[in-house]
Amino acid sequence: MKKTLGHREVLKGISFDVQVGDIFGYLGPNGAGKTTTIRILLGLLRADSGSVSILGADIDDTATRMKIGFALDPDGLYDTMTAAENLEYYAQIYDVKDAAARIEKVLGLVGMAERAGDSVGTFSRGMRQRLSLARAMVHNPEVLILDEPTAGVDPSGQIEIRKILLDIARQEKKTVLFSSHNLDEVQRICNRIALIDRGEIKLYGELEELRRKMGKSGVIIEIAGAVPENFFGELKERPRFGFRGMSEKSLVFEPDEGSASVGDIVNFLVARGVMIEKVGKSEASLEELYTAILEEVEQ
Ligand SMILES: Nc1ncnc2c1ncn2[C@@H]1O[C@H](COP(=O)(O)OP(=O)(O)O)[C@@H](O)[C@H]1O
Ligand SMILES: [Mg+2]
Repeated sequence: MKKTLGHREVLKGISFDVQVGDIFGYLGPNGAGKTTTIRILLGLLRADSGSVSILGADIDDTATRMKIGFALDPDGLYDTMTAAENLEYYAQIYDVKDAAARIEKVLGLVGMAERAGDSVGTFSRGMRQRLSLARAMVHNPEVLILDEPTAGVDPSGQIEIRKILLDIARQEKKTVLFSSHNLDEVQRICNRIALIDRGEIKLYGELEELRRKMGKSGVIIEIAGAVPENFFGELKERPRFGFRGMSEKSLVFEPDEGSASVGDIVNFLVARGVMIEKVGKSEASLEELYTAILEEVEQ
């Protein structure tokens, strides 16, 4: 899908699939286009081109809408009403059967049962975010779409929300898509991710697979000829080089940051009479890619 807002092409051709049962992390720095994408997914904004399909149906179908729960920023909670009253209001909108029991259940899910009768205006950001989650769940949807559910929440509150998201996905068997600018968070709880940067998807797929593919950043040194006697024994005595192995004519090193430079390793090899053909860097890690994207955005 594509979207231009004002004169800016905010989404330059975004495409991804979320599969049933996923905890899908939509990761990207501020301004990347996450909220715009989510608003389009929810039918609150029209894409200029492209289409959205949720559970195989159009988002504009009422039946589809009933299968989706969402939480956005601002949270749209009524400050003068209690937590329970807010949920009752939404339960009515969604025509929830046996609303009282469902409200009790979702308040329990987000650890807010004791605060049911308290006015939302007195709640911390973390409590509001949890109540938003409860509201998103009130009509027992199949899919949850959440825009930065931990934004502005203190670290312990973030841990609680992540735990709730995991519980919801596993125990309640919900498919969850949420956005975040926090790589660490996404790595902790998601099985699949898309990384968006300035309106483009930079990386997309199974998290484990992406991590494996990207590997740890390292140095690959191609050599000619044989290595001297006891070469590997000497390497073993230099753990800071992070020697990982040799394949064909390539030596692979993954030194820890700040422990050994490429120059240190090359000097060592030259001193041992090893002929160097080529020095290269292995692919960057997910962390490095994301850090590089963040640095570019800041400029
Ligand atoms: N209504 C708008 N008019 C013009 N530009 C907008 C509008 N809404 C968002 N943008 C711009 O679109 C880009 C993406 O915004 P957004 O989707 O909110 O990013 P994110 O949620 O990833 O922080 C930003 O550069 C933002 O300034
Ligand atoms: Mg946003």
